[in-house]
Amino acid sequence: MEWRHPSSGREIRKTHRGDGRRPAGPRDFAKAHSADNGPGWCPEVPSTFPLGLDRGALTNWPVGPTMGQRTEADDLEPDMTEPSPRFWGIFFEVYEALPRQGPGNRACAARALGLCRLPSAPTVLDLGCGIGGQTLHLAELTSGAVVAVDNHAPVIERLRWSVAERGLSYRVWPMVADIAHPAFAAERFDLIWSEGALYNIGIERALQLYRPLLRPGGHLAFSDAVWRKEDPPPEVRELFEQDYPTMGCATDVVAVIGRCDLDLLGHFTLPDEAWWDDFYTPMLRRVAELRIKYAADGEALAVLDQIGAEPEFYRRHSESYGYEFFVARRKALRSTGPESALLPRREPQETDRR
Ligand SMILES: C[S@@+](CC[C@H](N)C(=O)[O-])C[C@H]1O[C@@H](n2cnc3c(N)ncnc32)[C@H](O)[C@@H]1O
Repeated sequence: MEWRHPSSGREIRKTHRGDGRRPAGPRDFAKAHSADNGPGWCPEVPSTFPLGLDRGALTNWPVGPTMGQRTEADDLEPDMTEPSPRFWGIFFEVYEALPRQGPGNRACAARALGLCRLPSAPTVLDLGCGIGGQTLHLAELTSGAVVAVDNHAPVIERLRWSVAERGLSYRVWPMVADIAHPAFAAERFDLIWSEGALYNIGIERALQLYRPLLRPGGHLAFSDAVWRKEDPPPEVRELFEQDYPTMGCATDVVAVIGRCDLDLLGHFTLPDEAWWDDFYTPMLRRVAELRIKYAADGEALAVLDQIGAEPEFYRRHSESYGYEFFVARRKALRSTGPESALLPRREPQETDRR
C-alpha cells in the first residue's frame, strides 16, 4: 500500500504492521522515519566539518534503500496490516514534538560516557540521533566534535536549530543519511554512539559495520531493547514478535559484542525515569493536547488512543522488557611496522576521564 507523506507529499510506504490494536512505539517512529525519505534523497553536507573527517566521502554518503522504500518483494507480497495513512501524520505530530524519540536521559548518557576512556576532545558519531536529545547531552558532556545522523530530514532540521540556539554549530554537525551505509573512512572516531536505533539494521551487522570506523581503542556505546524475563506474558511476547522478533536478552547482546571482536566495558539497565521524564510523560501530554485539537475527529482519536497505549503497556510490563546500555571498546592495538607488530596507538590518560 502506498500513500504520500502529509507534509512532504513524497510517496512513502510504511513497514509498521499497526492494526489499530497494539500500542504504537519508538520502533514505529524509527520505521516511519526511515520511510520518509524517498529515492534520490541526498544527504546534506555541512560547509565546515570536524578536523580529520573526510568531507569528500560524505558528499557521496547515500541514504540507500531504507526500510520504507518499496522493494520487489513488497510488490509481490503486499502487507495487508499496514496502518491507515492518517496514522502516520498523527504519529509524527506526536513524536516530533517530544524531546526524544525513545527511552534515555542525560544521567544514562553520563553513566555510559563514564565507562569510556576518551581523549579530551573526542570525535563522536551519533547514529539514529532523532531530534537529538542525546546529541545535545554528548555535546555538553564532552568538548568534542559530534556528527549526528538520521535519515528523517525533519528531525535533523530541528536539531540544527537546537544546535544553533546553543551556539554549538561549530562542533555539532547534524546530517541526513542512512546509518546502514556509513561513508566515513576507517578509524575516524573515538566514540560511536547510538540510542535505540541499531536494531533497525540489526545489532550484529551494526557492530561489524561500525567497528572499523573506530580508532584503535575507540568506543562504541549503544542502547537497545532487551528481554528482562525468559517467560513474558503472551501479550508481550506477541507484541515484540511483530515488532522486534530478534530481540534478545542482555547476555545475547554481550555475546554479539564478543563475536564482533570488541571488549565489553560494561552495561546497565535504563531506569524507569529514563522512560518517563523525556519520553512517555511528554508523549502523554502531547497526546492529550492533540485529543483537544482532534476532538471531533474519530479517526484521529483512535490513532491517539493507540499511541497513548504504549506508556500504559510499559507500565504494566516493564518487568518483562527494558532498555540496556552497552559500552564496548575496540582493542587499543594497531599495526605499526612491516611485521604488523601490534602496539597501542595512544592509551587514554587518567586526565581524559570525563
Ligand atoms: C527510536 S528512534 C531514537 C532516536 C534517538 N536516538 C533517541 O533516543 O531519542 C530511532 C531513530 O533512528 C532513525 N533511523 C532508523 N533507521 C535509520 C537509518 N537506516 N538511517 C538513519 N536513521 C535511521 C529514525 O529516523 C529515528 O530517528
